[in-house]
Amino acid sequence: MGLFAFDDAALLGIAAEGTPCFAYRLETAARAWKSLRAALPERIRLAYAVKANPHGGLLRAFAALGSSFDCASKGELARVAALGIPGSRILFAGPGKRREELALALGLGARIEVDGIEDLQILEVLLAGPGPGMAGAKSPLRDSLRVHPRGGIAEGSRIIGGTGPSAFGVDEEDVPRLVAEAKGLTRVRIAGLQVFASSNELHAPRLLENHRASLRIARGLADLLASAYACPVEEALDCIDLGGGLGIPYEEEVAELDLGALGSGLQGLLGENPWYRGELVLEPGRYLSGPCGVYLTRVVRIKESRGETFAILEGGINHLLRPALTGQAFPVRVPGRGEAEEKKPYTLAGPLCTSLDRLGTAVLSRLLPGDILAFGQTGAYGFTEAMGLFLSHDLPRETCL
Ligand SMILES: Cc1ncc(COP(=O)(O)O)c(C=O)c1O
Repeated sequence: MGLFAFDDAALLGIAAEGTPCFAYRLETAARAWKSLRAALPERIRLAYAVKANPHGGLLRAFAALGSSFDCASKGELARVAALGIPGSRILFAGPGKRREELALALGLGARIEVDGIEDLQILEVLLAGPGPGMAGAKSPLRDSLRVHPRGGIAEGSRIIGGTGPSAFGVDEEDVPRLVAEAKGLTRVRIAGLQVFASSNELHAPRLLENHRASLRIARGLADLLASAYACPVEEALDCIDLGGGLGIPYEEEVAELDLGALGSGLQGLLGENPWYRGELVLEPGRYLSGPCGVYLTRVVRIKESRGETFAILEGGINHLLRPALTGQAFPVRVPGRGEAEEKKPYTLAGPLCTSLDRLGTAVLSRLLPGDILAFGQTGAYGFTEAMGLFLSHDLPRETCL
């Protein structure tokens, strides 16, 4: 099956129930979680990044495996809380957090990853008040600080990361100033670090290079905090969140991420940093939910135009925006059509009135209206990242199997 979570017979069966459709295979998602868990040192906590795919079936599957959850909005917090996940298994991160979101995270007992002094100041005020849930919050509240690295990390993609100007976190060079300001707050205390340096990284040594840089930043932060709060450096931090970014292949020939190398490299990094006694967190989204998903859509029209053959589909970037955002197409196949069939190149267009509505180009068996196309690896950054409301077409069905 490779890049497709279901075999052709299953794909055709799912499509017969109605297209367009996203189908998520829970067994594949659970396998990804378990193999990653098994490869990592015990001191690493796994938090599924809900933004990759917030479907309730997937959240329940990861919850049952003991996953923590990385949330980035009130809506994501509410989805996770509705499953009965305790605050000790919820992290709350993201730029531009609003007061009501911070209040919800606080009430749930989530670990808050602040993006700057403003988040800390809001928390300080919330903790002083009688708001719902505040009574249970421990004081001073231990938060983590998101830091945007100055250097020493692999180049980021357009999606996230790198060392250029960033909307995320506090620039590394500004951390001493922030710690000095935060010292004046009595109800909140910086006690952790979050760094997210690159996305869709398939090369374990590059991920590890980024994590090494994060541990270097952590040491600098711990020294500052030890002096600000007059505590031993070993007690300054209890949580270092290394972010997500574990890649998955979108083409057959591309090698998968070497989990063994990642796990032993992380174990090595812990050994190199004996001063650090807390936990490490990884918050992968794509790695855990990407491979379990398939998007099924029918061909509506075939059109020849000036030497190019278009297959116009039921759904395009209204259901799968990622190819337009990143320039990287999802793998596609025509289920039930033999490898030996004659093939030709198609431009895969959606039904929207914009030339941006393209899912890529592919060499496929000859297509006719009504034929089904299956796009693999679409369990992460699929429908919820798309522009589903544009042109008011039907929304795709989503099903967990
Ligand atoms: C803070 C944070 N954590 C985790 C993730 C998940 O990243 P990935 O799906 O690349 O693992 C993201 C993605 O944008 C993120 O912003």
